[in-house]
Amino acid sequence: MLNNVNYDIDITKEPPADDTARQYYFIEKAKAYVQRESEELGRPLTFCVTTFGCQMNARDSEKLCGILEKIGYVEAAEDEADFIIFNTCTVRENANMRVYGRLGQLKPRKKKNPHMMIGLCGCMMQEPEVVEKLKTSYRYVDIIFGTHNIFKFAELIVTRFESQRMVIDIWKDTDKIVEDLPVERKYSFKSGVNIMFGCNNFCSYCIVPYVRGRERSREPKEIIREIECLAADGVVEIMLLGQNVNSYHYEYPDGRVLGFAGLLKLVAESAPEMRVRFTTSHPKDMSDETIQVIAETPNVCRHIHLPVQSGSNKVLKAMNRKYTREWYLDRIAAIRKAMPDCGISTDMFTGFHDESEEDFEETLSLMREVVFDSAFMFKYSERPGTFASKNLPDNVSEEVKIDRLNRMIALQNELSAESS
Ligand code: SAH
Ligand code: SF4
Ligand code: F3S
Repeated sequence: MLNNVNYDIDITKEPPADDTARQYYFIEKAKAYVQRESEELGRPLTFCVTTFGCQMNARDSEKLCGILEKIGYVEAAEDEADFIIFNTCTVRENANMRVYGRLGQLKPRKKKNPHMMIGLCGCMMQEPEVVEKLKTSYRYVDIIFGTHNIFKFAELIVTRFESQRMVIDIWKDTDKIVEDLPVERKYSFKSGVNIMFGCNNFCSYCIVPYVRGRERSREPKEIIREIECLAADGVVEIMLLGQNVNSYHYEYPDGRVLGFAGLLKLVAESAPEMRVRFTTSHPKDMSDETIQVIAETPNVCRHIHLPVQSGSNKVLKAMNRKYTREWYLDRIAAIRKAMPDCGISTDMFTGFHDESEEDFEETLSLMREVVFDSAFMFKYSERPGTFASKNLPDNVSEEVKIDRLNRMIALQNELSAESS
């Protein structure tokens, strides 16, 4: 099993050089500290990981839980936990504010229970302003790390036990993918499987490329190995995860290239008894080849999440989405031609820079044309560091954003009621 890798570990020696072995070394070291503390308290130490944001973060949280359990922590509710971890999201400002709110509530508790630990990680921590704010106003946080080094969690816990100071470790970017660390699934029958990390698309409104770094595709043999282990462990449904799965790109040493369509086929064929899903697809890269693989492979789920964001070409251009309304509708037509029964869902948001009433109505008309099975709908939130924040003023008023969002939601409710 992946989470039962056996390394010959001697914690009295120096840590090994190999990344995975090194982390198993620190897991053993942390275990000794946790054991000591739990003997003093006369009970096991407990943890609670709270996840904000998307499925990528949810999968990262399963990795954090896997490491914590291996160290000897036991999962508990947040109000009872000795170690509280917030895995944060910063895609919109409200996700970000919620974390500060929750953190503020922990301050009195931490004062009463000095042995308690608070860890913060995830996308928000990749923003330098956030870390500055935590360093000055939230000194009671124990461990802060980012999206690129969650594999080092055990090592950071050991550093915290040994230094008794706030531990901060943020990497700007990475080309590393560390395999074979422990992971504890939230559901017994289904699991996310990362196929790629990061995003290179730089949609002008989006902070994800800044906080998740450049695209890195995982080796197909590692993906397949993980899926085989999941199958052996009773998992019947997997979700291939990436910010833009259809730009998956792996070059074998002999120069052959594996793209998303090829990977999807490979995965589905190597696990014929599993249902295979994937998210998220970017419309610009939704190829005929991928549509064909979905159509011909019985265990690939006929559901595509294809975020459109807006139905106006002017807005799509400002968003740097690299496709037009016509291209999007053509992809929908291609999907429906190959699979009339394919489910289609989307993401959209209102009130981006310069969005006029006419632009917004084009989004409504696209919604009527496509009839999405479901949609995640938001209002634009300016994010620091993005192209839009520097060049495209956030010039649609809050009232208009909210009004349009309400109209969008009402239309979607109407359409999904009709289609179901
Ligand atoms: N990689 C995916 C989406 C990642 S973020 C894709 O490209 O489709 C999830 C959704 O959040 C996006 O699809 C978009 O609808 C929304 N979103 C991203 N940045 C936003 C912002 N600054 N304001 C409002 N919504 C945003
Ligand atoms: Fe953000 Fe665009 Fe990348 Fe999606 S594809 S994560 S919206 S930059
Ligand atoms: Fe949020 Fe990070 Fe996902 S910003 S949406 S948790 S990639």
